[in-house]
Amino acid sequence: MLTALKPDVQRILEKNTSVDDRLQDVCKLLKAGVPYYDWVGFYFRNGDKEELKLGPYAGEPTDHTIIPFGKGICGQVAVSNENFVVPDVKAQDNYIACSLTVKSEIVIPLFKNGVNIGQIDIDSNTLDPFNSADEEFLQFVNQEVAKIL
Ligand code: SME
Repeated sequence: MLTALKPDVQRILEKNTSVDDRLQDVCKLLKAGVPYYDWVGFYFRNGDKEELKLGPYAGEPTDHTIIPFGKGICGQVAVSNENFVVPDVKAQDNYIACSLTVKSEIVIPLFKNGVNIGQIDIDSNTLDPFNSADEEFLQFVNQEVAKIL
């Protein structure tokens, strides 16, 4: 299922539309294509500030448009540079709740020329749905996105 989406991701990113429109379309594709992806969004470093700013996303609007480095799952990935898979958000103490329906989350850092410039963030309403195939797929998505940034 995830592998089958890779050509679609590449096709979207090759379009001549704005970067934000293409990233939004990638979010929509992933949300529609994977049943347990309920919110899909990109966060990027906000200029030189030690914070993340919400970019294109698909799903319910969130209040968390700015996340300081270190805060929540996203903020931790901004400083760790490592994938963060959360099977059960209730078991996390440094977690920012976006919606009461969310049960799990995966955040994969996005590197441009070796620098962590942002991340893709997926929320799921399913408990413990993510495995190494999701990590591999989302790393692929981020590598493809980095090419157009
Ligand atoms: N849950 C995230 C905040 C972002 S929302 O999921 C959209 C976190 O703990 O960093």
